[in-house]
Amino acid sequence: MPEFRIVVASDIAACAATVPLQEATWSGDVVVPPQLMLAVAHNGGFVALGYGAEDPEPAGFVFGFIGIYDYHFRHHSHMLAVREPYRGSGLAQALKEAQRDHCLDQGIETVAWTMDPLEARNARFNFGKLGAFTRTYHRDFYGAMPDKLNQGLPSDRIYVEWPIGHDRTYKRLRGDDVPPSLEDAEREGVGYLLRADGDRPGPAGATGSASHLLVEIPHAFQDLKAHDPTMALRWRIAAREALERAFGEGYAAVEFLRSADGRGAYLLVPQPRAGTESP
Ligand SMILES: CC(C)(COP(=O)(O)OP(=O)(O)OC[C@H]1O[C@@H](n2cnc3c(N)ncnc32)[C@H](O)[C@@H]1OP(=O)(O)O)[C@@H](O)C(=O)NCCC(=O)NCCS
Repeated sequence: MPEFRIVVASDIAACAATVPLQEATWSGDVVVPPQLMLAVAHNGGFVALGYGAEDPEPAGFVFGFIGIYDYHFRHHSHMLAVREPYRGSGLAQALKEAQRDHCLDQGIETVAWTMDPLEARNARFNFGKLGAFTRTYHRDFYGAMPDKLNQGLPSDRIYVEWPIGHDRTYKRLRGDDVPPSLEDAEREGVGYLLRADGDRPGPAGATGSASHLLVEIPHAFQDLKAHDPTMALRWRIAAREALERAFGEGYAAVEFLRSADGRGAYLLVPQPRAGTESP
């Protein structure tokens, strides 16, 4: 793995260094002001910059704050971004591991964030590489968003929970526990609650109380949005209906499986009884 430097931000200059990264990733309209970031960092939150070897410009950052959810402290990770040339380099995982270490030192065992459920890369990163899961769907969570990743569609989000103290999470991060392929799941007979029919979403299925279910999403949602906004909206609504139905019936999405031909689908399983920590 390449060498990275992760620098925890504790002054205004370091927080200000995230602004060009925020602008490049989303746009100037949704920037978190560095003064607010600094206040958060000084009150138990976490801001860190990632640098590639020999590169003086920050290549990525992560930002989150302490919250309370279901009567327990947790860390809400509000932003994570890595510049294009550093995508796929491992820097994003290094930033998340630094955030995890900060939280474990505080005695916090869950880091959470929101994610567009149709972003396959983020799904693979969050579920496949970090070992997170979700059981909560929010329609149009942030309302209309003006930035380049979100404009033009309802900002639906899944609420992603990352159990940072779990053995499975450590193994996943180390690469000792890898998810099965989508072909494996299909060979095992796992059925689809939502499946692509060519480029379009197929008809919604029923859960049928199955022990495992698949919900497919497009391979490259940003490209689809750019070339066919009507189809992108159809996927937004189809995935919303499938995930809301499944979560409402007690399922959680615990993996994101990929196939050799580029397809990708969430794997859903019934949640354990209420009161247990995670599915
Ligand atoms: C999200 C982000 C920080 C992740 O960093 P990254 O360097 O791209 O992440 P990684 O390469 O380590 O992991 C992404 C994985 O998704 C895979 N992937 C990429 N495109 C994919 C696609 N279309 N479908 C499925 N998987 C895909 C990658 O191959 C990689 O998996 P692998 O390492 O097993 O091959 C970065 O992409 C980013 O800054 N995105 C824009 C901002 C953003 O969306 N932030 C997150 C908000 S929740």
